[in-house]
Amino acid sequence: MVSPRHSVHGQWSSRFIFIVALIGSAVGLGNVWKFPYLAGENGGGAFVLVYLLCTAFIGLPLMAAEILIGRRARRSPVLAMRTLALEEGRSSLWAGVGWLATLAAVLILAAYSVVGGWAMAYVFRAASGAFVGVDAYQASQLFRQLTGDPERLLAWHTLFLAVTVMVVGRGVRHGLEEAVRWFMPILIGLLLLLVWYAWRYGAFDQAVDFLFRPNFAALSGGAVLAALGHAFFTLSLGMGAVMAYAAYAGDRVPVLQVSLMVVLADTAVALLAGLATFPLVFSNGLAPASGPGLVFETLPLAFGAMADGEVYATLFFAMLMFAAWTSSISLLEPAVAYLVERWRIERPLATSYLGVAVWTLGLVPVFSFNIWAHVRPLDGWPLFQGRTLFDLMNFVSTNLMLPLVGLAVAVFAGWRLSPQTSRLEMGRTLGYRLWLGVIRFITPVAVLIVLLNSAGILQ
Ligand code: PFF
Repeated sequence: MVSPRHSVHGQWSSRFIFIVALIGSAVGLGNVWKFPYLAGENGGGAFVLVYLLCTAFIGLPLMAAEILIGRRARRSPVLAMRTLALEEGRSSLWAGVGWLATLAAVLILAAYSVVGGWAMAYVFRAASGAFVGVDAYQASQLFRQLTGDPERLLAWHTLFLAVTVMVVGRGVRHGLEEAVRWFMPILIGLLLLLVWYAWRYGAFDQAVDFLFRPNFAALSGGAVLAALGHAFFTLSLGMGAVMAYAAYAGDRVPVLQVSLMVVLADTAVALLAGLATFPLVFSNGLAPASGPGLVFETLPLAFGAMADGEVYATLFFAMLMFAAWTSSISLLEPAVAYLVERWRIERPLATSYLGVAVWTLGLVPVFSFNIWAHVRPLDGWPLFQGRTLFDLMNFVSTNLMLPLVGLAVAVFAGWRLSPQTSRLEMGRTLGYRLWLGVIRFITPVAVLIVLLNSAGILQ
């Protein structure tokens, strides 16, 4: 009915699988690793509140917009933006938005793969009983041993990326569909177990207070920008991943309902991860603002003290690793789909080329934890002060590129795409009218305010 086209890459086998694949893309290291450490670094409650607001007013409508664009065009993000822009009589320069998104995805994947490698390394450590009876000091030493050793980091990064490349090379439908079908329930089951443990043995009340009582005095412009960037990151928005996946979705998939389900599932997992982590942070006297190592240094404490903790720990990090894979493949897909569509390169070959490029880019985050740990190239600029190369890569891609793409996608979907087209895809419902209002007037303005504010232009 709606879209007149077919994707050259095929289609998801069902609506259910499409939703699971989107949730698989959204739920990943961002929820379990990044959300707790960002909340910790940015003062807790107020950050969480801003993140939830960004999710509702920016994330949800943009998720619908990306699905709409991807499914309508049934092409990779670069060509999707170009095709729809030309069809609607707009400038072909809109393809630039697809380019920026695809580039951000590649950059983010380089860093993502390194952290995915940590999760992999932790599966083996957990299985070997390395966490049994550890105290906070030993847990943080374990983490430092890993990140301080460039060779080990490089080996795990290589392995993690190799699997990603293999899966994407085989096409999204084979293998992946089956994997995402069962891993999500297990991940959530294990998270609930950890929340229970943290409730029983950790400083739960203090953690709830920290996460849900907003202290606006602690909320800097930087924290607001971080919350916005994270809303994009965790929902896989602004990187073309959702657009690329939507190109393989069926015509009848209800855009708004699917978006809502993905956003709710993703938010629930992030909040659960926070509730599993912070009680242990407080009961062990750790600092909430201890940065990217937070989850890797706190959860081993819980597992190490539980009966059969090695089993749960192994399962948990294995699930984290799978969650990271189902996200990383969606980061590679937009670029691969583009090479296949535009240059007619065979999928396995296109994936390998990109794999080599991402691996090379990944050297930057690998070394920034050890031999380049003291390199802070942009220290002269207040916005970039104190940031390592890894931090800079994350910051520029997540906090600047993603909101910019989001802004452009909102303007395109709200103002440049004719309402006839968007209505055709979304149906003439109340939800659609609400969406159109929000994507036109609220989403772009909100993104713009946050960006200007953090650039210091608007105080
Ligand atoms: N949403 C994923 C996470 O939270 O871990 C990360 C991610 C995947 C970001 C895919 C962007 C993307 F396109």
